[in-house]
Amino acid sequence: MVDSVATPEPQLLKPCIKAPVAETLLTPRFYTTDFDAVAKLDISANETEIRAIIDELRADYNRHHFVRDDEFKQSWDHITGEKRRAFIDFLERSCTSEFSGFLLFKELSRRLKKNNPLLSEAFEYLARDEARHAGFLNKSMADLKLSLDLHFLTKSRTYTFFPPEWIIYTVYLSEKIGYWRYILVNQHMQEHPEYQFYPLFRKFESWCQDENRHGDFFKALLRSQPKLWKNWQAKLWVRFFLLTVFATHTMTVFERASFYETIGIHPRKYNNRVIQETNNTSARAFPIILNTNHPEFFWRLEQCSENNLKLAAIQKSNLPSFVKFCQKIPPILAIIWHMLQLYLIKPIDTEGTRGTVL
Ligand SMILES: [Fe+2]
Ligand SMILES: [Fe+2]
Repeated sequence: MVDSVATPEPQLLKPCIKAPVAETLLTPRFYTTDFDAVAKLDISANETEIRAIIDELRADYNRHHFVRDDEFKQSWDHITGEKRRAFIDFLERSCTSEFSGFLLFKELSRRLKKNNPLLSEAFEYLARDEARHAGFLNKSMADLKLSLDLHFLTKSRTYTFFPPEWIIYTVYLSEKIGYWRYILVNQHMQEHPEYQFYPLFRKFESWCQDENRHGDFFKALLRSQPKLWKNWQAKLWVRFFLLTVFATHTMTVFERASFYETIGIHPRKYNNRVIQETNNTSARAFPIILNTNHPEFFWRLEQCSENNLKLAAIQKSNLPSFVKFCQKIPPILAIIWHMLQLYLIKPIDTEGTRGTVL
């Protein structure tokens, strides 16, 4: 389960500025959308809930939380070798993903200011939080004598266009899975303080409440659009997005298994718990959730992950491009096959259980 791929030293853009990792299907994406369509969203079906969440965001409960207290002010040179590399990788991925959220929310806030001031205000608060999160992670990278040039990242990354409906599904899920990822690491550190090798993890408890509120905002937005949860097409889309988010999470966790092992977390148990909790939470937003108790569910997700590791090993080999291309076909087909089988597992209807606490 340990990442068997070679671990070279990080590449630098200039001294202490790390070159971003190459974009793959698993690196956090940068999104753009149809801003006019978002401005025109009719939220009247759920406006009270949306306004209540915006009030919470405005209260800014974490405004004094992201302070680098004395604990950070020391040398971190004793974090060395594979642990240092794996930690930098974790920080970079988290920072990029927070920064990607910041860019999308900031642009939404700016573009909606004139035509939809209410949603513009909400996105401004979300951007404020994500900027704090990304900045805090980047300063942690600087403690390890590396940081990301976020300005360079803004200009150099490819932006993926998603229609507003897809943005609502994926951002909702990424906020909720982000909440569970952070809170479970935090709980583990509280139970096993001997693994707390850097004070960042202490910050996760309040931090993840930001992600929870962001998720609640997107849930309220989603429920204001009946076409996103009230018809059969929505059920098919929800299945698709739940599955892709869970498959991506599984591949990422197993690709970075060594990092989780260095902080005493069992990658498989952690992955399964994050997915089960996120799936249960999303019953509050979606008309269906996936059946994670199906005997093949996690086995097939891990088959996707194993084939993904094979792809990474082929990519890193020194073989000619054509040979690499041919070698990649079987693992790609295997991933598609397992994803298809997962998609066909009968989901769980949540509308019948609406009102019960999940
Ligand atoms: Fe965040
Ligand atoms: Fe967030």
